[in-house]
This record gives sequence, C-alpha cells and structure tokens, in this order.
Amino acid sequence: MSEPVLAVEALHVAYGPIKAVRGCTLRLDAGETVAVVGANGAGKTTLLRALSNLLPHESGSVRYLGAPTERAGPHELARRGLFHIPEGRGTLGRLEVRENLRIAYDVRPADRSFEAALERVFERFPRLRERHDQLAGTLSGGEQQMLALARALINPPRVLLVDEPSLGLAPALVEEAFAVLGEFHAEGIAILLVEQNVYSALRLAQRGYVLRQGEIVMEGPSAKLLADAEMLKHYLG
Ligand SMILES: Nc1ncnc2c1ncn2[C@@H]1O[C@H](COP(=O)(O)OP(=O)(O)O)[C@@H](O)[C@H]1O
Ligand SMILES: [Mg+2]
Repeated sequence: MSEPVLAVEALHVAYGPIKAVRGCTLRLDAGETVAVVGANGAGKTTLLRALSNLLPHESGSVRYLGAPTERAGPHELARRGLFHIPEGRGTLGRLEVRENLRIAYDVRPADRSFEAALERVFERFPRLRERHDQLAGTLSGGEQQMLALARALINPPRVLLVDEPSLGLAPALVEEAFAVLGEFHAEGIAILLVEQNVYSALRLAQRGYVLRQGEIVMEGPSAKLLADAEMLKHYLG
C-alpha cells in the first residue's frame, strides 16, 4: 500500500488536564475525502488544529507526504499544501474579498499569477467577483463560506482540512458548500472534513471515523457507517 498523504498515529492532545484527543489513529489517502464526525465537544476542532500544528501534541505522530510534521509550523505546512479552513471560516472580516484571496495566494508559491488564479476562482464563484471590493465581514454567512472555500481553491492544496463548513448555514447553502467540496475532490484534492452534520458528511466522503470524547469509536467505508444507523446514533447522541 502506498504511503497516505496524511498519517496520524496514536495522537494525544490536551488542554492542561483536559484530554481532548485521546489516541487517534487515522489516515487520509491521496485524493480521498474522509469525514470525521462527532457530537459537539467530541474533539473534532482540536484534532484538526493539532494536524495543522496550531496546537501542540502531547504524544503520537503525524506524517504529511511521508515526513513527520513535528518541526513544521502551521505556516510552513500551509506552504507545503496542507490548507486548513478553520471553524468559523477563517476569513478576515476587515479586509476586502480580494485581499482575503491575495493573502491565501501569497502563502504558497504558485505557477500562475495572482490575477490568473483570481480569474479562475471568480469563474467558479461569480458572487465573489461581484463583491470583490466588499469587506469580508459584511458578506452573508453563505458568501463567507464560499470565500473560505475560494481561499483554498486560489492555490489548490494537496490536502484540505475543513472544520464544520455547514455550521450556521441554511440547508440550501450547506448543500452548496458540500457541492464545492465534491468539486475539489474531483480535482484530486484530498479532504479531511470534520462535521456534526453526520449524514451530509458521510454521503460526501468515501470513508469515515466517528469521534467520541476524543476517541475514534467507529471507522470504515461511509456506506457501512451509514448502514449501521443504530451504532451511529448511539455514538453521536
Ligand atoms: N481552548 C480550550 N481550553 C480548554 N478546553 C478546550 C479548549 N478548546 C476545546 N476544549 C475542550 O476540548 C474538548 C473538545 O473540544 P473541540 O475540539 O472544540 O470539540 P468539537 O470541535 O468536536 O466540538 C471539549 O471538551 C472542549 O470543552
Ligand atoms: Mg469544533
């Protein structure tokens, strides 16, 4: 079996005495979409933040493209193609849409110019073109999520970590956000999606992990997890 793009082994993350991630082992293969689902407080955000080295690891190992990440800062990982859309979207509210995209573009060396990259993004998100000089903080929730996704797409990453893209969105907009993730998948980007919106996430993903109180309690192909509705409910309730 070839090396996964992201390989996590027995990862522990704590906030002082609070053990938020307890021995998680998971992997993301090239081009896969994998969902990590769990109730509020299960440790999903902590896990993603630890994978980006935004939080220190108590123990365990994380390998990205075959190499340990322990010495790389979050910026370095982003530069190497590990892009994280944080909970709450991570857009900069006091900057214009275009400036938000510029900052995302500047994180990583790219073949195409910013203008060319921007044009490609605006073709996909015409709404953002219309609002290119608007302050991001004045966009609607759905538009802000599109901006967050556009920031990832401006310079397509190897791996996209995305934290609850559905949070706070109306159902139609959730569907739209998931459709965009489906397009990223079709472009070959590996996606690790953490969600409370279990069913939408598992329908998008090929595989899933169920996180409960910091531990992975179920894993497998999405279809298999979805078929085990009783267990899912038990762990997510
Ligand atoms: N900054 C923090 N300090 C202390 N405890 C935290 C902090 N952030 C999260 N926690 C705790 O860690 C656990 C996991 O939280 P989190 O990763 O945010 O879960 P999720 O994203 O699945 O809702 C929860 O018990 C939460 O209260
Ligand atoms: Mg969270």
